[in-house]
Amino acid sequence: MKILAIDTSCDETSVAVTEKDRILSNVIPTQIDLHKKWGGVVPSIARRAHEEIIDKTVNEALKKARTKIKKIDAIAVTKGPGLAIALEVGIRKAKKLAQKHSKPLVAVNHIEGHLYSVITKNSKGKPDITYKFPLITLIISGGHTEIILMRDHGNYEIVGKTLDDAVGEAFDKVGRMLDLGYPAGHVIERLAKEGDENAFELPIAMKNSGSADMSYSGLKTAAMQLITKLKQEDKLNKKTISDFCASFQRAAFEQLIIKTKFILNKYKDLELEDIFIGGGVSANIYMRKLFRKNFAKPHRLHFPTQKKLCSDNAAMIGVAGYYNAIRDNYVNDIESLDRDPGWRVNFNDS
Ligand code: KG4
Ligand code: ZN
Repeated sequence: MKILAIDTSCDETSVAVTEKDRILSNVIPTQIDLHKKWGGVVPSIARRAHEEIIDKTVNEALKKARTKIKKIDAIAVTKGPGLAIALEVGIRKAKKLAQKHSKPLVAVNHIEGHLYSVITKNSKGKPDITYKFPLITLIISGGHTEIILMRDHGNYEIVGKTLDDAVGEAFDKVGRMLDLGYPAGHVIERLAKEGDENAFELPIAMKNSGSADMSYSGLKTAAMQLITKLKQEDKLNKKTISDFCASFQRAAFEQLIIKTKFILNKYKDLELEDIFIGGGVSANIYMRKLFRKNFAKPHRLHFPTQKKLCSDNAAMIGVAGYYNAIRDNYVNDIESLDRDPGWRVNFNDS
């Protein structure tokens, strides 16, 4: 089954063609340069940019996949969560394509897409990933920090989440204070490589909270106070910035480790083995190593196998769309499909 998938949930206009769980094309003309000078995503700018390039991106995705719209079996589109006025652009285009070419339409949850990014394969069907349900998923990005119990395809329960900032958001806000540009996650990771992660003590929030809920606002505030202090004392230099980045990263990821262990223990009767980690922050190699150190056999850790699959992209929506389509989970009334900016991945339609 070939799917044409569209994601315009935030600042990337992405269109992909997928076949089952394989990518045939995954086009993502980035908007980062448009938002950089504002230090974050500006919804109205994102919408205009989506509108300007969506048609071209659809054509490019079909061309790169060496296929034509008539050979496509279904259209998949992100319905939410995301920015309302950005989501609308993709949904409008998907509806138009479905109606004009008489294709069935699948509405996909964006977080469900991130979750499937971990099992998305290249055009040759690689890598071959072994996993079994139930399993847990961590979605860590600029907008989300959630632990989800996945009992089956289409069966999700949010078992832990941030109560305030998302982990990527904390990286970006701290990065702004250090003038590291936007987004800052990968820059902090690079600078941290030269630093000492024990140089500064930063708080690991909610350590003993008795739940898997998380918080990043305390770490962000403590980090900002430390930067201000270093600035005032004229101690902010290459060495202290690297030390700071390493210490900040460690504190940010230790919280994820603690909460993952908490969930594995809480649901120990389920004998959870597989751990999927997706979202923009899952590109962080230090974080991957830290998880590998903490979760040995019988646990299996799975990360997106291409960097492009960590951040927002439509291939993951196509693969999630495929698993919805084979359960016959199509949109019944295409005309009335609407965006759902706050749609939580807390549902069971398996
Ligand atoms: O999934 P994504 O592209 O967009 C959403 O937020 O939905 O995630 C972007 C986030 C940004 O906050 C960015 O700073 C962070 O992912 N990020 C990283 C790294 N690469 C991207 N954070 C830490 N380390 C990285 N290597
Ligand atoms: Zn995302």
